[in-house]
Amino acid sequence: MTAAFELRGLTAAVPGEKGAVRLVEEVSLFVDAGETLAVVGESGSGKTVTFTSALGLLPRPGRVIAGQAMLEGIDLLSLAPEQLRRMRGARIGMVFQDPLTGLNPVFRVGDQIAEVLRAHLPIGRREARERAVALLARVQIPDPGRRVDDYPHQFSGGMRQRVLIAMAIALGPRVLIADEPTTALDVTVQAQVLDLLGELREADRMAMVLITHDLGVVARQADRVAVMYAGRVVETGTVDEVFRAPRHPYTISLFRSIPDLEAPAGTMLAAIAGSPPDPSRRPQGCGFAPRCFAVADAAGCRTERPVLRGQGHAAACHRQGALETTA
Ligand SMILES: Nc1ncnc2c1ncn2[C@@H]1O[C@H](COP(=O)(O)OP(=O)(O)OP(=O)(O)O)[C@@H](O)[C@H]1O
Ligand SMILES: [Mg+2]
Repeated sequence: MTAAFELRGLTAAVPGEKGAVRLVEEVSLFVDAGETLAVVGESGSGKTVTFTSALGLLPRPGRVIAGQAMLEGIDLLSLAPEQLRRMRGARIGMVFQDPLTGLNPVFRVGDQIAEVLRAHLPIGRREARERAVALLARVQIPDPGRRVDDYPHQFSGGMRQRVLIAMAIALGPRVLIADEPTTALDVTVQAQVLDLLGELREADRMAMVLITHDLGVVARQADRVAVMYAGRVVETGTVDEVFRAPRHPYTISLFRSIPDLEAPAGTMLAAIAGSPPDPSRRPQGCGFAPRCFAVADAAGCRTERPVLRGQGHAAACHRQGALETTA
């Protein structure tokens, strides 16, 4: 079975003083239809760059230097810019952290949704408006027939995020990429917006990528998880596998605060001593070696980049076997 969306060896870089600086390196991950993949990792680990690169949205002079981003069997990175733009609108939906930047304050929300529809579909104004009302209803905005004519400032933060979700799902995408979609919202509103995303995903069997810092959200919403560190995926597996038996010392450190899968919402990743390396100064071997409790020179931790090993549940760590037997 082919995944709904799959990255293969994605590497993206920006020019630096001493040559290309790789922001993300050899990132491989996938998400199936109807499933949620959570992407976690400290600030600066490359979560956002991974997906903006994959969708051709990394600002210049950044560029993808290797890899593929497969959507329904097509490599997005092989498409001409105009083809990719159309795919992005129609087949992939995106929701970002800040619900204000996505909406234009001077246009009515209904017109903004209608514009998305009319950019891709041969429909007139009246039909676009009807569909915008239906979309507002789908994202559970009360009284959508009236709210369709409101301006963004007349909506609360949570409602604006719902409007952006309506725009993201307007054309029935197969993949929805949500980058910390609730970080800017109040805690109670966060849960409602996440529940909405979960319901929409299930109803349409969309594949969902959920970038988050909240382990409670991972435990409750995700099927699988990809842990990123220093521009790489260092561990991936089902949520159950990774929570119960983390294999990478980075994951073990991050999840230390979590006794089990009952992590309540709002349980953030644990802080780890030290800070992640700047992309232009990553160590030669494992990027985590300087902060790792299990680092061993004899295993090659400081000289060789570890690659992901394992079927399904996989980790990129030279000490994997040794850790399991001593744990
Ligand atoms: N356009 C760019 N040009 C140069 N460096 C960039 C660019 N975008 C991101 N970076 C750098 O790439 C690294 C990864 O950034 P990214 O935004 O993907 O992190 P993140 O995991 O999404 O973090 P956060 O959790 O804070 O959102 C960081 O070191 C960041 O400073
Ligand atoms: Mg980010």
